[in-house]
This record gives sequence, structure tokens and C-alpha cells, in this order.
Amino acid sequence: MDLPVDLDARGDRTGAIYRALLDAIRSGRLGVGDRLPPTRALAQDLGVARNTVATAYERLVAEGFLEARVGDGTYVAGLAAPAPAPRHPGALDPRPGWTFRPLPVSGESAPPPYDFRAGIPDAGLFPFDTWRRLVAAELRGGAHHPGTYAGPAGHPELRAAIARYLSLGRGVAADSDDVVVTHGTQQALDLVARVLLEPGDVVAVEDPGYPFARELFASYGARVVPVRVDGDGLVVAEVPERARLVFTTPSHQFPLGPPLSLARRQALLELANRASVAIVEDDYDSEFRFTERPLETLHALDRHGRVIYVGTFSKSLIPALRSGYLVAPRSLRDALLGARQLADGYGAPAEQVALARFVSDGLLGRHLRRAHKAYAERRALVLEGIERLLPQLEVVPSAAGLHVTALFREPTDDAAVVAATAGAGVAVEALSSYAAGAPVSGLVFGYGAARTDAVTPGLERLARLLGRGTATPPRRARR
Ligand SMILES: Cc1ncc(COP(=O)(O)O)c(C=O)c1O
Repeated sequence: MDLPVDLDARGDRTGAIYRALLDAIRSGRLGVGDRLPPTRALAQDLGVARNTVATAYERLVAEGFLEARVGDGTYVAGLAAPAPAPRHPGALDPRPGWTFRPLPVSGESAPPPYDFRAGIPDAGLFPFDTWRRLVAAELRGGAHHPGTYAGPAGHPELRAAIARYLSLGRGVAADSDDVVVTHGTQQALDLVARVLLEPGDVVAVEDPGYPFARELFASYGARVVPVRVDGDGLVVAEVPERARLVFTTPSHQFPLGPPLSLARRQALLELANRASVAIVEDDYDSEFRFTERPLETLHALDRHGRVIYVGTFSKSLIPALRSGYLVAPRSLRDALLGARQLADGYGAPAEQVALARFVSDGLLGRHLRRAHKAYAERRALVLEGIERLLPQLEVVPSAAGLHVTALFREPTDDAAVVAATAGAGVAVEALSSYAAGAPVSGLVFGYGAARTDAVTPGLERLARLLGRGTATPPRRARR
């Protein structure tokens, strides 16, 4: 088992092992029922005395996180999930329709040694020094009128820079007045949901698909209808005509990978026009394109003002900027700006101008070229490694983005595979974890966060684990 333990020679080694195990349990890398390595083996791996490991195990057993089975071994206990806090009588509850609780996110656990988590760009490639200089230049007293309130659309310089970037790079015809700067895709989706959805409205989403979109629409009381995805992307023929909104990822279907075919793009636009359906086009990671020429965006093909185009700097740069944008039909513009004002007022002007400079001065282009080179190399290694080492898997063809997905050829419990490999330091994602009902089973391999020199060793380790049948009781995919 690869356990990232910070073994400071002066420090409390038992405590460090205890904390690393607890973190692995809390983050789900060690799941309920997983067996821990024998104390002797882990001690040897970590280069510490056996007693040091045994004491950490005992503490976790005493706290109910682990269970020691006599003559067998130590397992993650069924009660490992933290107990809910005691409730006071009359305590406030969320409204009855509110069921959403935070999903686990990548920043909450330590990076694993073999990191194939999806959706994480390589922050090591981001030019922090340049960014610091640009932001510092804007953070001057008096610049951007810090004592007054700004408009909700975003700084005009950034809107103009995004409009130019989109027309050149994505064929999205927009001028700066068509652009609303948001705190990432998530806020763009939130604004759209606020202004378009009534409780009970049907929202069609891809299945498997992006959970944060699905949950967001549901949180507004929408009836979310999962629609199948195949090698041509969303199966448009199965989108209900009565849908108010369709959420789709046409350039790189999330998480399966294929682009939405041209015929399906046209069919979707026809449906939208015929039945007055709004389409949200989430173009989250299309900057990184590796094979064919990109198809035209739905926005570019739309002749009837049905498409809301949404983009983000979370993949092209880093998620911590919390910067995204939407381009909406003019008929929705005022409503969306009003929604933004109600939601959080407006975004930070100094950072928006710094980002405008970053885009306009060619720094974004330079960063994308550098990042593209690194990701292309990792992607090639992932594809080569899956092909050579993992015959159980079949890659889904895709052309863009920061991850590839591969399907299990035989029915396999992908979640169990992921839990077992996480315990061995290889973080991949289960395709079924993105499904709302689709019977899918596969692995999603992100290569944004992976170290180039760790890709092949990580896949080799994964192949050994799968070869040993580590955790693959065959069964239908989860859910
Ligand atoms: C499908 C999809 N859309 C958008 C995003 C980016 O979201 P945000 O811009 O809110 O960071 C992600 C990130 O993982 C994603 O997977």
C-alpha cells in the first residue's frame, strides 16, 4: 500500500501514520471493508518499527475507524463514516427539497503518488510569477474604484478579451456585451438555472455526466432526466421534447469522451428550435485538442438564439482563479445580469483586469502551447499504457481534454477497483460514479495532474493490481 506519510525524523511517527490512514479513510481512498496491510509489511515499507504502525492501528481501532479481526487482519470498519452531530430538538433543517451535501473534491486529500484524477490541470505549469505581477499591478489604491460597486457583467476589458479569444479560437461570434464573466462554470450554470427554471421543469442531462450540473438543476426543483450517451455523444433522439433545458458537453463528452457528431448537433438544434428548448453548451476543456479538427460549436451553428455557451479558465489555467464566462442570447442578457447581481454582486475587478491582460498580451496562448505539449505527452503515454498493459479495458475514442475513459470489456465493479487501487497509491476514477442510472463500468484517467514520469509506472502498478483480481468481484456496474 502506498501511503503518503510525512515521516519527519523528529516528529511523532505514530501520529503521522495515524493521520495518513485517517485521511485515506475520510477521502474514500480506503473504503469500508478494505483490508489494511499487516503491520509488519507496512512498517517495512515505511522504514519504521512495527510497533509504531501497530500503535497507529490500535488508535484507529479504538476510535472505531478500523476493525481488527482475530487471526485474519485489520479492516476499515463499517462505522468509519463520521457519526452525525447530535441534533438539538427544534434544530433548523434545510427545506424539504434540499438534499444536496458537498461532494468530495480533489483538494481535500493529499495527491496520491500515481495521480490519474480527472479534471485537474497541472498547476506546476501555471506562470505564478507573471500572474502575481499582473495582479499586483492592478491592486493599487484607487484603481478600479475599490470603494464603489461595479456592474454584474464583469470588467469590460476582460469581456472584450474573452469575446476576441472565443471568436478566434472557437468560432463563437460574440462581442463584449454578450459575455458575462462568472465565478467558473458553476456560477454560469447557477445563473442560467435561476432565470430559466421553474420547479418541475424537465432538464435533460447526459448520462454518464457532470454531477455538479445535475445536482445544481435538481437543487432548483427541476426534474432532471438522464439521457444516454454513445460514441456520437448525447443520444439526441432520446431527449424529451418537453425539456426546458438540455445540458451537454459537445466537444468532449464528460466523462465518456467522444465529441457530439455533426448530425446530432444539427438534430439537437432542430429540437431546440421546434420545441423552444434552451441548450447549455459546456465547453470546459476544448482548448486541449489532440487529433481531429474541432467541430463547430453549437453556439456557432445556432441560428435561433437557443444556445448558451459556457466556458472556464479552470482547465486552460487553474481552478483557483474561479473564472469562467457565458455567452447568452440577447433575449436573456438582462435577466442573467440581474441574477448575477442577486447572487453575489460582481467579481473582483483587479483580478479580472489582470486576467484580461493575461489573455490579450498573448500569455494565455503561450501557456496553452506549453501545457498542450505536456498533456499531449502524458495522454500518449496513457493511451499506450492502457493498450499494452490493460487488456481488460477498451479506450473510448476522444479528441480533446484532460482525461481519457476506458470501458471494462467484462462486467466489473469499477468502484471496487478504484477503492482497491487507491489503497495502493493509484488514483483513477470509476466511470459509474458519474452515472445517474446508465449501466456503465470503466475507468477515467486524468492526465492533467499526473507526473509525466509516473504515468507508465502508475499504469504498470494498476495492471498488476487488476491482474491479481485485487477487488473485482464481477457484477453489473454500480447503480
Ligand atoms: C464537465 C465540466 N464542466 C466544467 C468544469 C469546470 O467547472 P468550474 O469552471 O466551475 O471550475 C468541469 C470541471 O471538472 C467539468 O468537468
